[in-house]
Amino acid sequence: MSVHTSPAAQADGGRKPLTLHALRAMQQRGEPIAMLTAYDATFARLADESGVDCLLVGDSLGMLLQGHASTLPVSLEDMAYHTACAARGNRSAWLVGDLPFGSYQQGPAQALASSATLMKAGAQMVKLEGGGWTAETVFSLTQRGIPVCAHLGLTPQSVHALGGYRVQGRDDEGAATLKRHARELAEAGAAMLVLELVPSALAGELQAELPQLITIGIGAGPATAGQVLVLHDMLGATRGRLPRFVRNFLPGADGIEGALRAYVAAVKDRSFPDPALHGY
Ligand code: KIV
Repeated sequence: MSVHTSPAAQADGGRKPLTLHALRAMQQRGEPIAMLTAYDATFARLADESGVDCLLVGDSLGMLLQGHASTLPVSLEDMAYHTACAARGNRSAWLVGDLPFGSYQQGPAQALASSATLMKAGAQMVKLEGGGWTAETVFSLTQRGIPVCAHLGLTPQSVHALGGYRVQGRDDEGAATLKRHARELAEAGAAMLVLELVPSALAGELQAELPQLITIGIGAGPATAGQVLVLHDMLGATRGRLPRFVRNFLPGADGIEGALRAYVAAVKDRSFPDPALHGY
């Protein structure tokens, strides 16, 4: 069996392309995983060269690139376009493509067609938001060879149902529901789980109870296997009031690449997130 590596990755002598297997190994040996959003070739290349392990082509591009008030208007075509752009700049990071609102909610058949579009554009894994109701879809996708990243806690595509961008799972009932959903998603075959705006203690319990999941936190404290930030937030380019979990890595860094490297270093040495400053 031959091992296929992209010609670009072979030619530039850079690090070996990250695989799901390699990410699992990092989780198991306790090496924090650094994930960052990227939406185009230039920033995907800079993030990859700065040592970011996973790139997320997030539907946050609806706000950041398109100027919408939420992620809801983002189309599958938008996501495929930006996934393809980021994939062309990336050499070795694991590339996750976000399934946008309306592209998987009908169920497994719609999710398969939408995921195929993102995978053909260059995604290696798809991300979808939501709890137990997505388990059937997650099972169907993983059975068909599509790695899935689930997303629990604050799920921005449900912002209107959740009543705003607020911390989830704070009370006993909310925490128990979140744990049940995480278990269902793990049993359905999800390999990765983004936990957004979740109390740090709950995120830690989830990772300990479900070691088969690679948990990636954003506003979920330091006990997850990895961290993700939105590129524009960590470069100080986002306007308006930012959530407390955001840290701007640009001040004091040697330009954008310096800020990206500082982010990776801070995730790896666990100085970010600081539970006192960035946790709930
Ligand atoms: O779309 C996005 O950028 C995301 C991250 C906030 C995790 O889903």
